[in-house]
Parts: sequence; C-alpha cells; structure tokens
Amino acid sequence: MPIRRDRRRSGTAGGSGGSSGADDTDDWGIEPGERDSLIDVPGGVRLQKVLAAAGVGSRRSCEEMIGAGRVEVDGEIVRRFGARVDPKTQVIRVDGKRIPASEDLVYLALNKPAGVLSTMSDDRGRRTIADLVADHGERLFHVGRLDYETEGLILLTNDGELAHRLAHPRYGVLKTYLAEVRGPVQKDLGRRLTSGVELDDGIVAADRFRVLDQAGQRVLVEITLHEGRKHVVRRMLAQTGHPVIRLVRTRVGPVSLGSLRPGSSRRLSVAEVGNLYASVGM
Ligand code: URA
Repeated sequence: MPIRRDRRRSGTAGGSGGSSGADDTDDWGIEPGERDSLIDVPGGVRLQKVLAAAGVGSRRSCEEMIGAGRVEVDGEIVRRFGARVDPKTQVIRVDGKRIPASEDLVYLALNKPAGVLSTMSDDRGRRTIADLVADHGERLFHVGRLDYETEGLILLTNDGELAHRLAHPRYGVLKTYLAEVRGPVQKDLGRRLTSGVELDDGIVAADRFRVLDQAGQRVLVEITLHEGRKHVVRRMLAQTGHPVIRLVRTRVGPVSLGSLRPGSSRRLSVAEVGNLYASVGM
C-alpha cells in the first residue's frame, strides 16, 4: 500500500483557498497551523477503530473526539477520521492522556490475599500471584512486591517500560496502606512518621499519615509513602512502637483497590492506564 499524506481540502466552501482574511479556518473548522502531516502507516488501522477497541468510547464518539482535535498521534493532533496508524508502535493520546492502543497490552489490578507470594513462580510449589492471574495467558510483570502476609493491590502488566517506571524509585509513585496496629497511638505519631524514622538501612519518612479508627488496643491507620524498601511499613510502625497486626495496600499511584475481592483481578480502565502513564511521565 502506498504511503499517503493527508490531502485535506483547503479554503472555505466558497473557495479562496488562501490564508488571508478574517476567517482563516477551513470548512472543517481547522486552523491553518493545525493541519497534521501524519503519514498513514501502510497496512495500519483506522484511528477511530483503534480508539474504540481500546475502550475510549463508541466508534461514533471516537470520531467526534478526533474531529474536535482531542486526539494526538506521536505528538501531532490528527483530525482525519480515516488516518491509519500502527497501535503497536505509535503513541496515541486523548486529551493529552496516553491510551493503551495495542490490543496485546494487558493492565491488571489484583487483590493479593495473605499467604500468597508476590512472584510469578516458586520452586517450592507455594501459591503465587501467577496462580491468581493464570486466566490472562500473557506473560505479565508484577509492579513491585508485597510481603507474603500483606494483602491488597498489586498491578500486573506486560507493558515492560510502564512496569519498570512504576517500580523505579526515581518516579516516586505513592503507595497507600491500611494498617491495623497495636495501640493506643500518641497524638504525635503522624508527625514522627512524616518527619522520618530511623531504620537499619536509613531514614524513611511517610508522605501522609492519619488515624482512621482507634478502639482500645487495635488502631486502624492509613499511611502513604513513595518508598519501596522491603517490609518498610511494618518496620516503620514497629520502630514507633506499633507492630502491624494486618497490612493491606489500597492504592498505587492513581489506581485504587476499590471493592475488588481478595484473590480476584480486574482489567484497568483506559482512564486508569492513562493516569498511570502520566504518573511516570509516559
Ligand atoms: N511495606 C511492608 O512492610 N510490607 C509490604 O508488603 C509493603 C510495604
């Protein structure tokens, strides 16, 4: 198939075709500076089809988004409905947020129960998170780990670059945990945790902390950190005199655990994937 540049009609229906005059838009309402020069990918897929397949909306609503100039391909606004793109190699954004365009890419949220390893295999035959997402077939990477006894949100994907960035300390992705700890807690616990606690491998500070419920000896707290060190939440809370009884991760960056049942997984929405990309500068 030949490579075809977009040949859009220029000028208004009345047909001056020039760029002078009070109204420089053409009859598609496109400003002269906005004309895209995207080259159709030979054998590519129509842009509105790619958007609809990614779950952005119906084919019709995707066409409207394209017409409204909300869709970018490789950094260029494309307003043609017929533009042919390669969803595997081109970066497509809607309203500035990247969409998971390639149908081969999988993005999952899993609620890991206690007593499951955060690995994709175990030579001692213990239960791993791979057993919980086996239906998905693809080779997935898990983003970071949770302790054997820790429950809650683990993201899995076969998008290697995204997984790598989400786990990399450089991007400082925030993780939120609910912890049941031994109480009672003193009023200054939040200040101590956010100003930094000395652990064997250096000082760690929480980004946020709050007490959610305090009933006798058991206290429910929420702690948010961007650190990914081993057992970090358990060690910080133990160090301040509050050993953890139960620990659940409820959020990773922009993705929440929500009401996902322990042991179940769900596909992330297009918006969640877009927000994940944005959180690590992709
Ligand atoms: N901090 C912990 O102590 N354990 C986890 O699993 C995650 C963070």
